[in-house]
Amino acid sequence: MAKPTFYITTPIYYPSDNLHIGHAYTTVAADTVARFKKLTGHDVYFLTGSDEHGQKIEHTAAARGKKPREYVDEIVAGFKYLWSRLHVDYSDFIRTTEERHKRVVTEIFQQLYNQGDIYKSTYEGLYCTPCEAFWTERQVEEGNCPDCGRPVELVAEESYFFRMSRYADRLLAHIEQHPDFIQPVSRRNEVVSFIKMGLEDLCVSRTTFDWGIPVPFDPKHVIYVWVDALTNYVSALNYGAEDDALYRRYWPADVHLVGKDIVRFHCIIWPIILMAAGLPLPKRVVGHGWLLLESGKMSKSKGNVIDPLVLIDKYGVDAIRYYLLRELPFGADGYYSEDNLVLRINVDLANDLGNLLSRTTAMINKYLGGEIQAPRPSADPLDRELIDLALMTPGEVAGLVDQLDLASALAVVMKLVGRANKYIEETAPWALAKDPEQRERLATVLYNLAESYRFATVLLSPFMPGFPARVWAQLGLANRPDLHTWESLTWGRLPAGTRIARGAPLFPRLEVAK
Ligand code: MSP
Repeated sequence: MAKPTFYITTPIYYPSDNLHIGHAYTTVAADTVARFKKLTGHDVYFLTGSDEHGQKIEHTAAARGKKPREYVDEIVAGFKYLWSRLHVDYSDFIRTTEERHKRVVTEIFQQLYNQGDIYKSTYEGLYCTPCEAFWTERQVEEGNCPDCGRPVELVAEESYFFRMSRYADRLLAHIEQHPDFIQPVSRRNEVVSFIKMGLEDLCVSRTTFDWGIPVPFDPKHVIYVWVDALTNYVSALNYGAEDDALYRRYWPADVHLVGKDIVRFHCIIWPIILMAAGLPLPKRVVGHGWLLLESGKMSKSKGNVIDPLVLIDKYGVDAIRYYLLRELPFGADGYYSEDNLVLRINVDLANDLGNLLSRTTAMINKYLGGEIQAPRPSADPLDRELIDLALMTPGEVAGLVDQLDLASALAVVMKLVGRANKYIEETAPWALAKDPEQRERLATVLYNLAESYRFATVLLSPFMPGFPARVWAQLGLANRPDLHTWESLTWGRLPAGTRIARGAPLFPRLEVAK
């Protein structure tokens, strides 16, 4: 039977600068969902990329004395390096400067023009020439540019417009009929009230710069960067190409994961482009919250940008991924602080997760000569409780991952880990070990601990892809990939006779400066 497909995307990032921990959050979250879906038997396509056109990039490159292309090549190489260090395993990386992308943008733009959805008109606005920016009456401060303070002038620029207004009712109806289309609900409500205020036609071409995709029928114009960028989700699948197998297999996308600031582009402009082009809409757009600092937003000018590479070098990639995914509540903002990061590492990873493995393997070594032994069938309520929890956990985690609630999904796995730690206190293997008559009981308790750990490790593998290999080595399961799978999560698959191999602590405790 063919596996069900699952197509998930991240936003494509602006190479206006290096990426920070906030961008890392989005991509790591998408990667985790992609890995989880693979684990549970889906045929997954996971797309990320870079959004390379536009005036800002042109300016940034010029400011560094570079040609745009040369400049973006360097920054994009940095993106790819960051993703590899973060264990982000994408299926494809799309760059909007690639020919395969330009072709699709050009064709869709031409189609919309041919059918009368794009028309020429004049864009009138208050323009600040030094800043090359249009402002509205309300933004202008006493006739001056709100950015640089110099006078603005009324200019009229010939532009192409996209008849968005024509599709407003259809879009509203779609949102109503597909309650899952925009998540969470708070973002959905924002989008709905925005549309209800009335959609204006969108200016979709510019003539003030040329770092972009030319309008095919009027090449002194370049296509508006958001129309260009949003199209990546289908251009990467070779939409409209002779071989469009990827498009046919994966479109419509299952999830566009985006930050809350770009929900509107994805829930208004993009669906309307698709409707106009006669293509199906993505199944879900999920808008996550922002990772903030106590001091507010991260920004270059404030000098408070957190570089994920520095954190990976200091704490390890698994810990950083865990922290990002555990800390940001679904859909809401979260705060980054290094103190909290260290706290999470010490409490969740060192004390709970790491310790459970070292205690379990230490006891198997000490009491059973390093070999996992067969459990005895047991009606002990403590055993039942642990086993039942282990058996319930996979389904619960899968449900939460489906809702993109990764923080809760991690909390559920950690509950199993916590339960197993408590089971050690309750069963007191060190006391059982003193009584030769309790030898079978001791073997059963240690079996249950090792088997619970196997469950937790499989479930955590999409979140922390580096950590399982070290666990499998210690549990003696490195050569049993069949026991690392979702399908293997039925109780009792861990074979008796497995020899464990104690290793270094998975997550050493960090010293906390007083
Ligand atoms: N290029 C556009 C996206 C086009 S998608 C067709 C863009 N790029 S961006 O680089 O500015 O931002 C990309 C993503 O990073 C956005 O989803 C944004 O919400 C996210 N984040 C940027 N800073 C962030 C935080 N501090 N926290 C969480 N996400 C953040 O927008």
